[in-house]
This record gives sequence, C-alpha cells and structure tokens, in this order.
Amino acid sequence: VKATSLRRREFLAAGAAMAAPQAPVRIGIVGTGGRGVSLLRILLRMDRVSVPALCDIDRQNLERAAALVEKSGRPAPETYAGEEDYRRLVARDDLDAVLIATPWEWHAPMAVSSMRAGKYTAVEVPAAISLEECWELVDTSEATGVPCMMLENWSFLRPNLAVLKMIRQGLFGEIVHCHCAHSHNCIYWYFDKEGNPRWSGRHLLRRNADQYPTHSLGPVLSWMDINCGDAFAYLTSTATRSLGINHYFRKTFGPDHPAARRVYRQADIVTSVVKTVRGNTIVINNDMQLPRPYDNRWMIQGTEGLYDEARSAVYLSGRSPNYEQWEPFAPYQETYDHAWWRRVPTDVAAIGHGGTDYLELELFVEAVAARTPPPIDVYDSVTMSVIIPLSEQSIAAGSAPVPCPDFTRGQWKRRRPAFAVES
Ligand SMILES: NC(=O)c1ccc[n+]([C@@H]2O[C@H](COP(=O)([O-])OP(=O)(O)OC[C@H]3O[C@@H](n4cnc5c(N)ncnc54)[C@H](O)[C@@H]3O)[C@@H](O)[C@H]2O)c1
Repeated sequence: VKATSLRRREFLAAGAAMAAPQAPVRIGIVGTGGRGVSLLRILLRMDRVSVPALCDIDRQNLERAAALVEKSGRPAPETYAGEEDYRRLVARDDLDAVLIATPWEWHAPMAVSSMRAGKYTAVEVPAAISLEECWELVDTSEATGVPCMMLENWSFLRPNLAVLKMIRQGLFGEIVHCHCAHSHNCIYWYFDKEGNPRWSGRHLLRRNADQYPTHSLGPVLSWMDINCGDAFAYLTSTATRSLGINHYFRKTFGPDHPAARRVYRQADIVTSVVKTVRGNTIVINNDMQLPRPYDNRWMIQGTEGLYDEARSAVYLSGRSPNYEQWEPFAPYQETYDHAWWRRVPTDVAAIGHGGTDYLELELFVEAVAARTPPPIDVYDSVTMSVIIPLSEQSIAAGSAPVPCPDFTRGQWKRRRPAFAVES
C-alpha cells in the first residue's frame, strides 16, 4: 500500500509519534454481533494478529467471540460489556488497532474515540450517518494523524478491481457515467421474528434516505477518480412510496399486527443522481425492503464502451468482435485480474463474501503493521457515507439539488489515485 500524497508529511510525522511498528498486530474489536464475529473469524486466520480485547453489550455475543479467540490458541481476551466501555477498550496500551462493528449510530463516536486514543481505526459501513459526524471523522483523523478506514468490502471485489485496471488502461475511453445499486431485501435484518424493529429497523421508522449507500459506491469512487481528480458536486434524490414493509407484515402476521400498521418513513426505493465537478453522473439505487434477489447493477460507461456487471459483459468499440453486441467479461477478468487477489488463499475464498472480506482485512492489517495509510482513507469513507444525510435532505425538499461537501478541502484537485495502484 502506497502512502497517498495528501498530507503525507503530516501523516509520517504523526506516525513517528505513535507506537513503533509491532508484530503481531494487536486488534481490539467493538461489536461482536453477526458482522463482528464474521470479521473476527477471518482475522483469526492471520497468524500475526492477536485479539487482546473485545467489547459488546450483549454478553452472549461477547462470550461467543471470546471463545473463538481462545479456540484459535490465543490467550483469552479481556471483555468489556458496558455501553460506554469501548472508551476503556480503546485506551488500552496493548492495542495497535480497533475494529468497530456496532449499530450505525455508534460508528462515528467510537471511531473518533479510537483515533483520539491513537489506534488505527477500521469501522464498518457506513462510517457516519450525519453530516456533522462525517466532518468529525475528518477533523479527528487530520488532528491526530491517525487513519480511519471504512470497511467497504465491495471496493475489493475481484471483478471490480479488474474493471478498475481496465479503466486506468483506457479501455473504456473517457468515463462519463456510472450506475450502482444496493438491491438487497434486508427485512430479516431490520426486524426480529416477531416483527419488532431491531436497531437497524429503527432507522427506517425515523428517516427517509439512502441509508446504505456505501456498498453501491465502493468501487465507483476509484472507477471515477473521486477525491483524486474529480469530486462529488451535488446530488438529487427521489423516493418512492413506502409500501414494502407494511405489505410484508400484513402477509406474514395479518392486517392488525402492529408491524403491519406501523408508519415507516423509509421509502421502498431511493434513486439518487450525483453530478461530479468534472461533469460526470452517478445513479445510486437503494432498495432494501422489497422481495428480490441480491443485485448491485454496477455499470460504468465511457467514450469507448462500457462494463455491465449484471450481464457480466463488456462492449468495447473497435475491440469487441461484433458491432454493438455484448461480449463476456470472463476473459477480461483473467487478463486484468488484480495482483491483490493473488494474496487471497484459495481456502478463504469460500468465506467472507468470496474472499473479499479477507482481502480488505489483510490490507488493513498490513497498513497497521507498516504504519502506512490503509487502502480506504477517511476522505473516501465519509464521501460514501455522506450520501445518507444528503439524500435525506434532497428527498425532504422535493428532490432538490443538495451540494456535496468537499471533505478534502480542495486537495482532490492535486491528489493522484492511490487505491489499488499496482507497483
Ligand atoms: N460490510 C458488510 O458486508 C456488512 C455486512 C453486515 C453488516 N455490516 C455492518 O456491520 C455493523 C454491525 O451489523 P451486524 O449485522 O453485525 O449487527 P448485529 O446487531 O448483529 O451486531 C451489532 C453488535 O453491536 C453490539 N453493540 C450495540 N451497542 C454497543 C455498544 N455501545 N458497545 C459495544 N457493542 C454494542 C450489539 O450488542 C451487537 O452484538 C453494521 O454497521 C452493519 O451495517 C456490514
């Protein structure tokens, strides 16, 4: 991983002030629910990683995670179970990094606390859920010199990295447009079996926004040189009615069940369009409560052709064999496969989103050990996350355009692409 040019000198100065490079890499985990444990299992595959401390308010989840650490042959981790106990965890002097996999509303406060304690910070998606939190993450990372990486795994997906190489080698010509979606029925994740909202479902009661924009945007940021040559200028968002959740619970529990009658603010589908400073457009679909197979519908288009993920196909002018007809992507995947994927052992390819989660954690751990910037920095983390409050604002104002903040404070004009650049 190469150091980005942005504030590199300050970064190195701050890095020198932090603890000396250590092996093994010692990671504390806050949040050991579904995602925290799945990331923990992957970390335990890495010999140099130790896990001295875990924190969760759910004792059962905490014990289960602690047992996994012990079963791996590592010493039993110290456990913290209070709601504010993460503060005690991040303050430990035997941690190099902290990984946060808690409910959304805790991400920014916990990440800020971790950075202030000098710990490399990895935070699950989204990194923040309000504009103020986005700025707080940027300000804290800049003031402390401590990196904060949002764990946006789809940035590392094998085909997405191959497409990135193709873009950088000019196969699609000049890029002008991109489409992306998070179309994933998550009713099971938002509600418990009785139809009560879990922490995630409570966000659907109180907000109408693209509440989960980072999986769609992950690869798009690097495909379109966002924060390193281009930047989000403004966004408009339009929302459908909210029918899906009530409909589902009416069918499941009958029309009089509280879950069937509750008022959910969240629309079924939110469509945002981002215009970039360079003049390109990005369509982002959020679609997480209607019955449907999982889909990301990534599509990127330039003056020489396009890639269509749903079709697993490309069309390249003057290169594809048949005039304006799709050709399969598979041979391009082979030719433009990214070197990062050579580090993913075949036996982990079956776990954690086909090895994608392993790759993102391996790169984070490597950055911690080498005291270099992680592959996704704080600017990219908040640029993806800020779609939440901006889309909410635009929807509330009748799809009005909302300016996107420039978290890099103008540096995007000078920064060179750093993500996934092969040496
Ligand atoms: N990148 C991905 O592919 C992916 C997949 C699933 C979830 N996620 C993200 O991971 C995060 C966690 O999701 P999940 O499905 O694991 O949810 P979950 O409810 O299973 O786990 C959250 C855990 O956080 C704990 N927690 C709550 N408040 C806490 C506090 N103050 N201190 C310590 N622990 C606390 C809960 O007790 C629970 O164990 C979410 O942000 C979600 O968006 C990402």
